Amino acid sequence: MSSTTPATPSKFRVAIVGAGLGGLLLALFLQKYSTDIDVDIYESAAKLTELGAGIGVWPRVMEVLKFLGLEDDLKEIGGAHDSTAQSVHYRKADEPKAVDIRVFAPALLTFSRSDLQAVLAKHLHTADKIVYSKRLLAYVEPEAGQLDPIVLQFKDGTTATCDLLVGSDGIRSAARRTMFNNLADAAEIRGDKEQAAKLRTMIEPVWSGQVVYRGLVPVDKLADSAHSKDLQKTLILLGKDRASLPSLSATNVHEANIDPQDIVSYPITRGKTINVAAFVNTPGAEGTTYTKAWVTESTSAEVLEKFSGWDAGVQDLFKAMDKSLSWAVHTVRGLPTYVSGRAVLIGDAAHAMTPHQGSGAGQAIEDGFILATILSHPNVTLSNLFEALKIHDGLRRPFSQGIQRRSQMTGYLYHLHRLGWEHITGEQSAAGDYPREMLGKIGDELESAMGWAINESIMDDREKALKLLEKL
Ligand SMILES: Cc1cc2nc3c(=O)[nH]c(=O)nc-3n(C[C@H](O)[C@H](O)[C@H](O)COP(=O)(O)OP(=O)(O)OC[C@H]3O[C@@H](n4cnc5c(N)ncnc54)[C@H](O)[C@@H]3O)c2cc1C
Ligand SMILES: *[C@@H]1O[C@H](CO)[C@@H](O)[C@H](O)[C@H]1NC(C)=O
Ligand SMILES: *[C@@H]1O[C@H](CO)[C@@H](O)[C@H](O)[C@H]1NC(C)=O
Repeated sequence: MSSTTPATPSKFRVAIVGAGLGGLLLALFLQKYSTDIDVDIYESAAKLTELGAGIGVWPRVMEVLKFLGLEDDLKEIGGAHDSTAQSVHYRKADEPKAVDIRVFAPALLTFSRSDLQAVLAKHLHTADKIVYSKRLLAYVEPEAGQLDPIVLQFKDGTTATCDLLVGSDGIRSAARRTMFNNLADAAEIRGDKEQAAKLRTMIEPVWSGQVVYRGLVPVDKLADSAHSKDLQKTLILLGKDRASLPSLSATNVHEANIDPQDIVSYPITRGKTINVAAFVNTPGAEGTTYTKAWVTESTSAEVLEKFSGWDAGVQDLFKAMDKSLSWAVHTVRGLPTYVSGRAVLIGDAAHAMTPHQGSGAGQAIEDGFILATILSHPNVTLSNLFEALKIHDGLRRPFSQGIQRRSQMTGYLYHLHRLGWEHITGEQSAAGDYPREMLGKIGDELESAMGWAINESIMDDREKALKLLEKL
């Protein structure tokens, strides 16, 4: 069932479990770098599907996509009319007329997720060999030090084997469940009950306190809006929480006190459609368990109500949105390791984060880039895979967890809960009753928060990995 049969004898067999953006990009990087690694891809869905409509990609991630030779194809499917990178307009919009905060020079490329996936599949020579409808339940590792294969157990009762397991199976990762149950069992055997309990808390995702409404607006439907042209820009709209205002139609505890938080909207499919994500927050709910279904259908009337009093253009945008899906935003706790034995977690399985840095997929892609750099190095063989994975963990875990925390802080900023804004009430904010220079502070903080994604390169980390591999 091998999807790639290398020209030279294979040095080991990799199973990629989960064909989301993280898994697909890893496969593409391995295809580019190595000729002697066998790759199998298992996906639980019956075909390639991307949930959610749009995705933004910053320059740091574009660099590695270009490196794969995807640039020309990506140009065809960009979000702007002419498919070029877009400026990002940050505004404060919880007032009847939004106020500019900062504009970033053109940097962000936006895509429809399904278009992006189609480009990736087109470039993956073995995309037709992805094994679908294979849901991993758990895996069984050989005893420490043994070179026997890892056994994958699927929900349909079948099994498969591999030398290296890559869990790219998303936020509810089955690979993470097995890895941390095994680590916890080992801690228990050592008599460390406290550590075992702590390791088990790494398995379930945690609620961020936020729910996001995601919907699409056909640009044609905005024809009658005075704001039509403006709404086709890439916008990030911030607002102050209204915790002090009487609650809107409260129907249960989780809805008792919901604040509008921020809105991200940008064009996709060459300007034909606008992708909208509108976030609401429940104060004090971060870290609690979300008891309802994670994804539910909702109406634009619901979203309009939550953002009542916001900028007039925003109202037009929501009115033109037929329906939306509401998603409870979850994250993965800061894991103490991404690797164990010959298994490694990448992407959301390892570090699902809030979307406020627009970088969850970007970090999944960076994982794949570094992991492929390591696995394809001639010094890496079946017998030292464990040490090689440690290099990956040492480079990728601190970085991606840094972005995870940065995302959380950016969320507090979007919610106007930092830099002195915590002392401004929702009413004051909505009435424009705050010192104007406080907007500049947010702008400066946004630039320093996003600089890494715009002005830095991951090639430095590739160099670090190569240096460490020489001594492996
Ligand atoms: C509102 C919102 C906006 C976002 N915007 C951005 C953005 O602009 N830029 C950005 O970089 N990121 C963004 N993200 C984050 C991004 O969507 C994720 O970080 C990214 O999709 C994670 O990719 P992944 O491949 O790790 O996981 P996933 O995309 O979740 O893929 C996991 C795959 O594994 C499969 N699978 C699951 N379980 C199993 C199993 N047991 N066995 C086999 N297969 C399995 C699934 O079917 C799926 O195909 C956003 C997220 C949200 C919620
Ligand atoms: C990126 O670098 C440019 C040029 O040095 C600078 O003008 C810009 O502010 C930087 N962007 C961010 C977001 O830091
Ligand atoms: C590892 O690779 C470097 C060059 O990339 C080489 O000089 C070195 O001898 C290799 N080490 C082993 C143990 O193969």
